[in-house]
Amino acid sequence: MAILPIRTVPDPILRQKAKRVKEIDKSLRKLVSNMQETLRTVGGVGLAANQIGIALRIIVINLPQNEYSVLINPEVIRRSGERIVNEGCLSIPGYVGEIKRSELVKIKGTDKTGKEIRIKAEGLLAEVLEHEIDHLNGILYVDHLESQEKLRKVEPSDNQAE
Ligand code: NI
Repeated sequence: MAILPIRTVPDPILRQKAKRVKEIDKSLRKLVSNMQETLRTVGGVGLAANQIGIALRIIVINLPQNEYSVLINPEVIRRSGERIVNEGCLSIPGYVGEIKRSELVKIKGTDKTGKEIRIKAEGLLAEVLEHEIDHLNGILYVDHLESQEKLRKVEPSDNQAE
């Protein structure tokens, strides 16, 4: 396994719409393992493949008690409610921003074996899923800021980045 360098703004790959994964083969499984190792090493809660320079629709999640740590071709199929969160991103180190996310989301995608899954999520898991699926569409959390005053500087080690 290997730890992969994380792309930061303004790297243009962060603005690319990632392509769907067509086949889960050995090289894709290796990429997923490397993404998981990278995320654990940096201590983040979520990582999208374009953050490590690969424009494919893959996300990994590192949250306790979360059944699904890998999602391939994930899509949000329903959102409801609204809540204010403070979000950080591994690709925008040293900042957190106050934005609105959904209270509940329903996601569909496949797991790392290609089996179709649906997830109903709330709280931090819902936030991470929306954040990572945004990445796959070239969207960053700062795009959701109502104003620049909602963005503040923090110590890079001080936030749960995604
Ligand atoms: Ni992020």
